[in-house]
Amino acid sequence: MLSSLALAALSTFAVTAYAHPPSYSHTSPWSSQPSGYSQEQKWNLANFTSLVVFGDSYTDDSRLGYFITNDGNAPPVGWVDPVSYKAADGGRTWVEYVKQYTGANLYNYAVSGAVCSNDITPRWFSAIDAPFPAIEQYEVPAYLADSQYYHPNGTKFMTDSVDATVYAIWIGTNDLGYEAFIQDEQVAGTNLTTYVDCVYDQLARVYANGGRYFVILNVAPLNLAPIYAAPPYSAGNNQYWTNRTDNFTDTSGRMMEQVVTVNAIYEYRTPFAVEVAKTFPGASFAVYDVHGLMTDIHDNPSAYLNGTAPLNVTGYINHCNLTGGDCVANPNPDSFAWFDELHPSEQTERVIALNFVDVVKGASKWATYWSS
Ligand SMILES: *[C@@H]1O[C@H](CO)[C@@H](O)[C@H](O)[C@H]1NC(C)=O
Ligand SMILES: *[C@@H]1O[C@H](CO)[C@@H](O)[C@H](O)[C@H]1NC(C)=O
Ligand SMILES: *[C@@H]1O[C@H](CO)[C@@H](O)[C@H](O)[C@H]1NC(C)=O
Ligand SMILES: *[C@@H]1O[C@H](CO)[C@@H](O)[C@H](O)[C@H]1NC(C)=O
Ligand SMILES: *[C@@H]1O[C@H](CO)[C@@H](O)[C@H](O)[C@H]1NC(C)=O
Ligand SMILES: *[C@@H]1O[C@H](CO)[C@@H](O)[C@H](O)[C@H]1NC(C)=O
Ligand SMILES: *[C@@H]1O[C@H](CO)[C@@H](O)[C@H](O)[C@H]1NC(C)=O
Ligand SMILES: *[C@@H]1O[C@H](CO)[C@@H](O)[C@H](O)[C@H]1NC(C)=O
Repeated sequence: MLSSLALAALSTFAVTAYAHPPSYSHTSPWSSQPSGYSQEQKWNLANFTSLVVFGDSYTDDSRLGYFITNDGNAPPVGWVDPVSYKAADGGRTWVEYVKQYTGANLYNYAVSGAVCSNDITPRWFSAIDAPFPAIEQYEVPAYLADSQYYHPNGTKFMTDSVDATVYAIWIGTNDLGYEAFIQDEQVAGTNLTTYVDCVYDQLARVYANGGRYFVILNVAPLNLAPIYAAPPYSAGNNQYWTNRTDNFTDTSGRMMEQVVTVNAIYEYRTPFAVEVAKTFPGASFAVYDVHGLMTDIHDNPSAYLNGTAPLNVTGYINHCNLTGGDCVANPNPDSFAWFDELHPSEQTERVIALNFVDVVKGASKWATYWSS
């Protein structure tokens, strides 16, 4: 099943031309924003020229692919992660759309299969004969090395001002998922709060390196993903989680509990860390409620999805066999919220990108902003 993730990440999915972002209206209800609260003064990013991002297959371009094709070795310092047009969402991931929509430079450290820390939920990847490279052990160190790197001609690899750079983290899909928390496979003595601690600890390392603008994307509504959905929408045994013996209804309910609990911690711990404990002096934070956004896509698909076939938020585009082969893709991908059992569709990721652009403008109804 691990190699099938790689297959998914490297799958050959035809991608057509890209136009400008769709213009859609926000029809969704206001999220859990405190009322009478001025966001703008909390987020005064003057110029957005650079996005540094940490994450998993929801974000990865070609980084896991580099490990696979180079005997498990990490890319060298100063490596530019090429865009993938066949990423795990079947097309380009959200960060590539952010780059397209804003012109920002992209430094994408996300690795498919990653968790926050391999000291908490290591997941073995046979294709590289090692655990998937994680944010703590690989992604942040790779960024820190790149941030100090100079090209052989003496110019700096990362040239953007920290005042124009946003550092985003979206991690949890694998941490909370199969072969990890949902199957009680975390390292003994760790728990969900250890995972959340890890996320803030990684941002603290970036802060110590000069980072000042942070976006935390909260955890997706994984209980709605076909792999964790309850019957009749459960994908059941699938290419990622094979030989399942769990009760799909129970798993879906427990996943919902994990997700909403972790997201409640993000919602309240971020203002605590930033404004009460003042752990990040001079920094601005946004908590981007992608959980709310993706739930709204699920509940109001016609406000977001532009496929010509009947819209479908419970099924998925790409159907493969249990070892990730013989894949058959639906010919109307823009009608779907999910690409496969585990991954959002490219259209969903495009919507996530559009709203991320609003988040970094300081003007998203899906974000709460905090600063000190
Ligand atoms: C924003 O950054 C771009 C690229 O570095 C630069 O051309 C532009 O002048 C900057 N704008 C402001 C308002 O600083
Ligand atoms: C230095 O090398 C980098 C990497 O090859 C290149 O992108 C950059 O344009 C070069 N800068 C100058 C001033 O030659
Ligand atoms: C849960 O995790 C926290 C943080 O890692 C740890 O301090 C605590 O001991 C753990 N609690 C249990 C009951 O394992
Ligand atoms: C699933 O179980 C069968 C029977 O035990 C075994 O042959 C097969 O290798 C297992 N598949 C995976 C992907 O673990
Ligand atoms: C799975 O769990 C649900 C809810 O707990 C229960 O109603 C159902 O009977 C269980 N299914 C099986 C096959 O045990
Ligand atoms: C949906 O919108 C995207 C972005 O504008 C566009 O590339 C795509 O072709 C559209 N899909 C359909 C089926 O019109
Ligand atoms: C949604 O897609 C799935 C395929 O994953 C299909 O089985 C199902 O019938 C579709 N549902 C609707 C409402 O079209
Ligand atoms: C899945 O499809 C591939 C390619 O046809 C095949 O080699 C493999 O045996 C299939 N796996 C299963 C479980 O049927």
